[in-house]
Amino acid sequence: EEVSGTPIKSSKALAPTKVTLFGEHAVVYGKPALVLSIPVYVEVETERADEFSLESGPVSLNKLSLIIEEDEVRLSGEARGEVLRYFSYILESLNIIGIRDVRIRISSPLPVGAGLGTSAAVTVGTIAAASKLNDMSLTKEKIAELAWEVEKRVQGRASPMDTSASALGGALLIRRDGEKWIREKITINEVPLVIGLFKKRWTTGELVARVAKRLTEYPFLNEIIEVIGDLTMEALNALESGDLAKVGELMNVNHGLLESLGVVTKEIAEAVHAVRMAGALGAKVSGAGGGGAVVALGDNVDEISAAFKAVGAERVLVIRRLSRGVEVR
Ligand code: MEV
Repeated sequence: EEVSGTPIKSSKALAPTKVTLFGEHAVVYGKPALVLSIPVYVEVETERADEFSLESGPVSLNKLSLIIEEDEVRLSGEARGEVLRYFSYILESLNIIGIRDVRIRISSPLPVGAGLGTSAAVTVGTIAAASKLNDMSLTKEKIAELAWEVEKRVQGRASPMDTSASALGGALLIRRDGEKWIREKITINEVPLVIGLFKKRWTTGELVARVAKRLTEYPFLNEIIEVIGDLTMEALNALESGDLAKVGELMNVNHGLLESLGVVTKEIAEAVHAVRMAGALGAKVSGAGGGGAVVALGDNVDEISAAFKAVGAERVLVIRRLSRGVEVR
């Protein structure tokens, strides 16, 4: 009888990325942040080889192989090592360290570290796919929770924002109430957004550490964190009442505050000004900064897109609807 070495089981997850409209960095200190889950998906496939297959022979426990598709994921050798390390965290967090031979295939339309939560989406997608592979059925809330644990180990210090957006989908207000984190789904009208992506010069972990250092050096700068929290709540009101002019103005203020925290590069500052000149109602750095994503609000998406391209954006995305969170197949 022929025993094939092909995997007997596989699973696939589609995990959305996100754009932060308000409150990045301040959210690490428990302040509210407003994040939108966008329909740009990272695809994660996991396959398990047959434990008794003749071809695979005696396999070592925890043998993981990682196949990364699409050049766009653009991982250096060192980054690959990192990614493998965090897959082992993921499998550990799922208590499936015993799995024998798992192959993980990731395809992403965006580079990891683009500023749109790709790394959180990879984590969420891997947890969703790997748990399915192990016949576990996890709720989206549970996936969000496990993914956050992994992100904290990878990033050093992380809020549950990116992982929640990818797992749960929609528009979310994330904030801390005492020791407890609250993830509140909010209903907002359509907001026309254009996102420009630029080369990211530092990792999110490095940028979060830079802000922490600045706040330790100058403790009075904690006021900036407070102000970002207040303006996020004001922006939520404006979004709910459809006052886009006000939302745009508050995005501009939020950008200025992030600049004072040291996460805005010259390239990002220029892009923000260029799209404002092109008629955007507001524009700001989005995510950790240090390059990465700039989000602009405005109906005139063609002019805004052209302005992003003119200042050297590597990619421009027009976002018209939200995603519904992670999907497993
Ligand atoms: C990164 O997308 C957002 C930050 O606020 C970090 C975090 O929330 O963990 C900069």
